[in-house]
Amino acid sequence: MIWTVLLLVHALLLYFILRHRSRSRNEPPLDKGLIPWLGHALEFGKDASKFLERMKRKHGDIFTVRAAGRYVTVLLDPHSYDQVIHDQDCLDFHSYAKVLMERIFQLRLPNHEPAKEKAVMTQHFLGMNLCGLNSSMSRHMLEVAKAEMPQNQKDWKEDGLFNLSYSLLFKVGYLTLFGGEQNNNCSDLASIYEEYKKFDGLLTKMARGTLKSYEKKTAQSARQRLWELLAPARLAKGSGSTPWLHAYRRLLREEGVDNEMQTRALLLQLWATQGNVGPAAFWMLGYLLTHPEALTAVKTEMEALQLSPLDSSVVTPVFDSALDEALRLTAAPFITREVLQDKVLHMADGQQYLLRKGDRVCLFPFISPQMDPEIHQEPQKYMFNRFLNEDGSVKKDFYKGGRRLKYYSMPWGAGANGCVGKQFAISTMKQYIYVLLTNYDLELCDPCALMPGVNASRYGFGMLQPEGDLLVRYRPRQKL
Ligand code: HEM
Repeated sequence: MIWTVLLLVHALLLYFILRHRSRSRNEPPLDKGLIPWLGHALEFGKDASKFLERMKRKHGDIFTVRAAGRYVTVLLDPHSYDQVIHDQDCLDFHSYAKVLMERIFQLRLPNHEPAKEKAVMTQHFLGMNLCGLNSSMSRHMLEVAKAEMPQNQKDWKEDGLFNLSYSLLFKVGYLTLFGGEQNNNCSDLASIYEEYKKFDGLLTKMARGTLKSYEKKTAQSARQRLWELLAPARLAKGSGSTPWLHAYRRLLREEGVDNEMQTRALLLQLWATQGNVGPAAFWMLGYLLTHPEALTAVKTEMEALQLSPLDSSVVTPVFDSALDEALRLTAAPFITREVLQDKVLHMADGQQYLLRKGDRVCLFPFISPQMDPEIHQEPQKYMFNRFLNEDGSVKKDFYKGGRRLKYYSMPWGAGANGCVGKQFAISTMKQYIYVLLTNYDLELCDPCALMPGVNASRYGFGMLQPEGDLLVRYRPRQKL
């Protein structure tokens, strides 16, 4: 027994000696944390924003931290972001995406060609096809709103704004992109959303591999149920499928993906297309309702529209600024890339740092530019007209260190891997807010209510979600 223990201790020591890492010349400051292997993983996972702010105060705009055996270099100077965003030779978007695909969705696509998938997305979510998608989305928006927020109701109805926005937009998005009409009835749609919410609630823990055993069971059963519920969408033929889904399924078949993996891929797409829009719409509407002058400005602009807000000739600068401001405060993705080969990173201030092959590099625009007090005055405050000039035109001039910034807010990422669904997502939110503000009376249950705080475990995973909800009440507007 004693020999086994000694052998184990020696093996562990050898492991740590071989894996020992120290900072080399020209490398960013290295902060391994106190716990071997785990490093800063716990603090990172608990509240990444707070942790990275602390590291920034300690080390500056670039540093490398250890988390669960991996070394991640974090870059927080927006003037230097192009060095990461535009280097597709040394830095790779897909390796880390693949890790998450497997951890969260149990999805393995060995012959997957990301460029082909991207081409399918681009073809269906941008350009001419976007118009078709928008009109299908608008139609479903009216249908779902009618069903969930009845026109004939006289009395106020109460709900949490997050719950209302996420569930309604999820259903609209599902019907638009997954073509549920023929495949699913209403109760299936409600079940898909219920299971999806359970799954989404555990998503960050799945990504970090920190599920407790009872949570593992819940995640597994929600995933399994979603696979079953999505199977009809995988099988749908002709008019039961939407053009995007049809093209995506064809690509999977061409890549030799079997039926089971195809269904898992659909769940990934369901989350990728629905995971951010509902929460983003919630934040925007929540900020409007808690800032009456912003609500009046957006309402006035919307009520004056002669055409649909999605008509290409319609401009909505007030809405656009109010949305950009909500996203500045609540979009918090990590832009993560795997370092495929050693790379010298040239910072805008003239410093050079070596990034090691096998490490990851991560931008966190939430800290800077979005919440950087040098760029945005009183960054914690919601100012609906922050992105408007005095003459009402779009404001694009923001500065840091006396230099004009290319990136002053980055909710959609940037460069070659920037968000393909941006236009569609904006149209969906615009239509939702238009329908709500022009067809319904909508107000806070408690006129003094404040916006709820954020669920700090979601920093790094796209749009933030609230801790709790904001109670609102609504009823159809009386036609004058
Ligand atoms: C408010 C809503 C949304 C937000 C805030 C958002 C944000 C983002 C961000 C930050 C990225 C870049 C990730 C990176 O560089 O590492 C991204 C990528 C992407 N987004 Fe979105 N997104 C939203 C909605 C959507 C929708 C509705 C779709 C699809 C219909 C979509 C499809 C994609 C795709 C396909 C990529 C990856 C692009 C690539 O492979 O190069 N997104 N999104």
